[in-house]
Amino acid sequence: MKLKQLHRISGVAIAAFLVLHLSNHLFALGGPALHITVMKYFRMVYRFPPVEVLLLLCVTIQIISGLRLVFTKGFRRQPLYVIAQAVSGVYLSLFLINHVTAVLLARYDWHIETDFYFASGVAVHYPEKLFFIPYYTLSVLCAFTHIACAHYARRVELARVASGPDASAGFRREALLILGAGAIVTALIMASFTGLFYPL
Ligand code: HEM
Ligand code: HEM
Repeated sequence: MKLKQLHRISGVAIAAFLVLHLSNHLFALGGPALHITVMKYFRMVYRFPPVEVLLLLCVTIQIISGLRLVFTKGFRRQPLYVIAQAVSGVYLSLFLINHVTAVLLARYDWHIETDFYFASGVAVHYPEKLFFIPYYTLSVLCAFTHIACAHYARRVELARVASGPDASAGFRREALLILGAGAIVTALIMASFTGLFYPL
């Protein structure tokens, strides 16, 4: 199997988890208690041991295969979407290593609950928030940027195979729509976790 195919398949598995994870964070709009209740339900899915092992394996595969793709392809003199895909991917690698290590250490070593307050604590307190607000904001923005670029690349690739009329303006619009949705989701999640809607 080609590296890019492996990255795509593992990426689809992570994207499925992200639908749960980010919609869980959006429930924080209704307050910490609602976020925690929804997380309890979602954990039944992604903390089910075979699912969690597969998810963590996919995260590892994603980082290694993604970094290899960046360094074999390079991103000098490439179109903007290739550069954006590589840059967002490199950020996601650093973020995922840090984020997943922190969550697993908290659970198995520090024995603390990794619920709403685990993430919001560091996004509210000074000086930690100076790091954690951009850190979380960029994670969600980069995930949407990465998916928008993958969508655009795939559309261009398939159109080339079909060799139909040039529809790249339409593909660009679709990618911008994904980015716009990403910006809104990011703003709503970050506003909730930093206590903009209720005191934390
Ligand atoms: C949130 C996790 C991630 C998801 C859901 C994801 C998903 C994807 C998808 C679906 C593609 C398109 C593959 C194709 O065109 O067939 C892609 C491409 C790519 N990804 Fe990721 N990815 C993730 C993380 C990463 C990371 C951590 C890196 C590391 C640098 C990375 C680097 C790349 C690169 C360079 C490409 C372009 C491949 C090419 O066209 O040659 N990705 N990604
Ligand atoms: C690209 C964005 C993100 C990705 C790919 C991601 C990925 C992950 C992964 C793989 C886990 C481990 C799940 C497990 O095995 O238990 C996790 C857990 C967690 N993440 Fe994220 N995350 C992202 C963004 C965020 C953001 C923005 C926040 C908070 C504002 C956050 C808060 C948490 C919390 C609290 C947990 C623990 C969940 C639990 O205990 O059930 N994540 N994340």
